[in-house]
Amino acid sequence: MFFKKLAASALALASAAKATIIYAGVDESGGEFGVYGAKGTGLPGEFGVTYAFLDQSTVSTWIDDQGINFFRIAFLLERMCPLATGLGSTFNETYYDEYADAVNYITGQGAYVLLDPHNYYRYNDPSSQPTSGSIIGDTSDSAAATTDDFAAFWGELASRFASNDFVVFGLMNEPHDMSTELIVDNNQAAINAIRAAGANQLILAPGNGYTGGHSWNASTCSTCDPSSEWLQKLTDPANNTAIDIHEYLDEDFSGTHNTCTQSGPANLYGLTEWLNEYGLKAVISEFGAGANSDCYEYVEDLLQYLAANDAYIGWSAWAAGPFWGTADACCGPDTGNLEPGTLTTDGTPGAYDTVWATAIKPNVPSALKKSGISSLSL
Ligand SMILES: *[C@@H]1O[C@H](CO)[C@@H](O)[C@H](O)[C@H]1NC(C)=O
Ligand SMILES: *[C@@H]1O[C@H](CO)[C@@H](O)[C@H](O)[C@H]1NC(C)=O
Ligand SMILES: *[C@@H]1O[C@H](CO)[C@@H](O)[C@H](O)[C@H]1NC(C)=O
Repeated sequence: MFFKKLAASALALASAAKATIIYAGVDESGGEFGVYGAKGTGLPGEFGVTYAFLDQSTVSTWIDDQGINFFRIAFLLERMCPLATGLGSTFNETYYDEYADAVNYITGQGAYVLLDPHNYYRYNDPSSQPTSGSIIGDTSDSAAATTDDFAAFWGELASRFASNDFVVFGLMNEPHDMSTELIVDNNQAAINAIRAAGANQLILAPGNGYTGGHSWNASTCSTCDPSSEWLQKLTDPANNTAIDIHEYLDEDFSGTHNTCTQSGPANLYGLTEWLNEYGLKAVISEFGAGANSDCYEYVEDLLQYLAANDAYIGWSAWAAGPFWGTADACCGPDTGNLEPGTLTTDGTPGAYDTVWATAIKPNVPSALKKSGISSLSL
């Protein structure tokens, strides 16, 4: 315990000197809610009843009191692009407007927003995500949307936000159990479409294995090449793409246990080497841990490691959101979630008052990016 604290403070000194983290914030989850059940359940859904993106009254709390500059807002592809018209450039304008309201409300306050299609590179059946739905670009599945459809979707979304400098494009949440080459093909098609739409903001591109940093160099399914063999092949005409990473600290990296046993620094070491080898940057757009002193140390070790390594430019924690109530957003039981003011199921303070207040808030850097188009640097 004592040695651990010493090591942590040495890293903190290094981070003060380098100050590499320019985005720090929270994930807003709720726009994807209400579809988990029988196939077709909850589509299109009802705004404010089965899904919602954000409680706008919490935004000033986050920005002014907690000092963050970054929000990741989830939405569901099957709601943005209804099944009747399919994945592509035809949107449900009602859902789009609701989403754009949440995005523009935050960017209007001078914070950055990461757009998050929360679909695991699947489209057409979100009932049992992350495993249901056809893999986007899978040419052996006649029901699957194509890579071109995905590019058309991103081209349209990017064109609508092209003049909002505070937007960041997250290509896809947590691809898994699919060809890594196809992930790169889909990512590349989306990057090309976004740039062709005249949008030059920061893009975050995911890898395989739920884009886990610990398994970047590993095969995560029988037919999955390691992300480290493919993701460096991406090209971006605007040179403004970073790698999107998720990293939980429990035994199986799933964020479903409230005991922490997986060291962020030890598990990200290989990824860091790979990023440095190719001159790439990364953002950790999901992490989380249980509400206990052991986990707080793991969280602090992770955030101080990110701050001490130039390859990392940002992070955001899972998750706040208007519809969690007392539910565990991760790392339960009895962890709750990051929505300000919420409790756990047993009536004790939720993760905003525990994990965030104790372990995350003290690691929010003071010199975050406050102006200019979203990019890899201040
Ligand atoms: C579009 O979304 C709104 C809001 O969820 C919904 O009421 C409407 O039925 C949807 N339209 C289609 C065609 O899915
Ligand atoms: C992107 O980087 C390449 C290689 O360094 C350079 O040739 C090119 O001009 C850059 N493009 C932009 C838009 O900065
Ligand atoms: C990645 O895996 C390869 C092949 O197993 C190995 O040679 C290499 O050292 C690994 N790199 C890192 C950074 O773990």
